[in-house]
Amino acid sequence: MPGAIYAEGLVKSFGKVKALDGVDLEVPEGTVLGLLGPNGAGKTTTVRCLTTLLRPDRGKAVVAGLDVLKQPDAVRRSIGLSGQFAAVDEYLTGRENLQMVGQLYQMRAKAAKVRADELLEQFHLADAADRIAKTYSGGMRRRLDLAAALVVSPPVMFMDEPTTGLDPRNRQQLWEVIKQLVSGGTTLLLTTQYLEEADHLAHDIAVVDQGRVIAQGTSDQLKARTGGERVEVVVHDREHIAAASALLDKFSLRGPGKGDTAVEDHMRKITTPVSGGAKLLAEIIRELDADGIEIDDIGLRRPTLDDVFLSLTGHVAEAGREDAGDEGDDGKRTAEGQDRGRRPGKEAVK
Ligand SMILES: Nc1ncnc2c1ncn2[C@@H]1O[C@H](COP(=O)(O)OP(=O)(O)OP(=O)(O)O)[C@@H](O)[C@H]1O
Ligand SMILES: [Mg+2]
Repeated sequence: MPGAIYAEGLVKSFGKVKALDGVDLEVPEGTVLGLLGPNGAGKTTTVRCLTTLLRPDRGKAVVAGLDVLKQPDAVRRSIGLSGQFAAVDEYLTGRENLQMVGQLYQMRAKAAKVRADELLEQFHLADAADRIAKTYSGGMRRRLDLAAALVVSPPVMFMDEPTTGLDPRNRQQLWEVIKQLVSGGTTLLLTTQYLEEADHLAHDIAVVDQGRVIAQGTSDQLKARTGGERVEVVVHDREHIAAASALLDKFSLRGPGKGDTAVEDHMRKITTPVSGGAKLLAEIIRELDADGIEIDDIGLRRPTLDDVFLSLTGHVAEAGREDAGDEGDDGKRTAEGQDRGRRPGKEAVK
């Protein structure tokens, strides 16, 4: 029995560009799958294939128990979609936009109005409900677009970069709405370039690169694949580097002498992979102290999804969002998308 969303071997080319090169996915009912990948990885193309907007060249897809290629109309009635670029009618008010969607789905006018009011409230748009959408900020449009996708509470939802361009406060609010939605039983596939978002919302994460799913698992599973935790020590005196390195190597995960302990001379920093957490850290501190090795810093570093992404794809996520377009309510681009992707000097963990 396939999950609420199931894809097997999806292939899609645009001329010479192979946007999808055999995408396999499965999303169990009532769970959230985060599709994570750099620009051009094939996230939007995957979503468009699964939502009947694009016909794959090859492959199979089943959504809400329906064959996407053979029963596209029925699929459309069972899903909600919020696209990467908000699809609101600029010349209608927020309220009218939502009521119109309800009527498209054949809700009675009264019911559509009630539902619109609920959503306007939920998405903090009540005050702007009677202004035309053209006057909305980027963040408000994005919220309106998501609200529109939720008018009929479909069993399966697709969201393509739902929070790109939102400021941190708006992003948090949306996360709450999305969590509520999922706690009500909705199955969700969402694409994102924000690792933090995938970490926060998704049960499972599929990393997409060059039209393929190159890894899938929970955030913890993916992190474990990237090599687990490390101890980092910065010694005070350069002369102590060798002694500290030998000491740390005794604690390294695969045992001493395996060459797993790394030294960055200019930083006076020694790093070794370990398992044992805080307890081990305390032991290392005691031994360093007993040997008279003075330290400036010591810490346990756990891999982040950033590390996972980097080790899997060879490049950092969230880079180069210059084309991202939308701005947050306060007119500022979120700092996160820019800083996190541009962290200099990180090397692949491979
Ligand atoms: N309609 C199209 N015509 C030609 N090429 C396309 C079309 N749609 C997508 N592509 C190409 O297919 C590849 C995958 O694009 P897609 O939009 O799926 O990536 P994405 O992962 O959503 O990227 P982003 O993070 O920038 O949204 C890219 O190389 C893109 O240029
Ligand atoms: Mg996209």
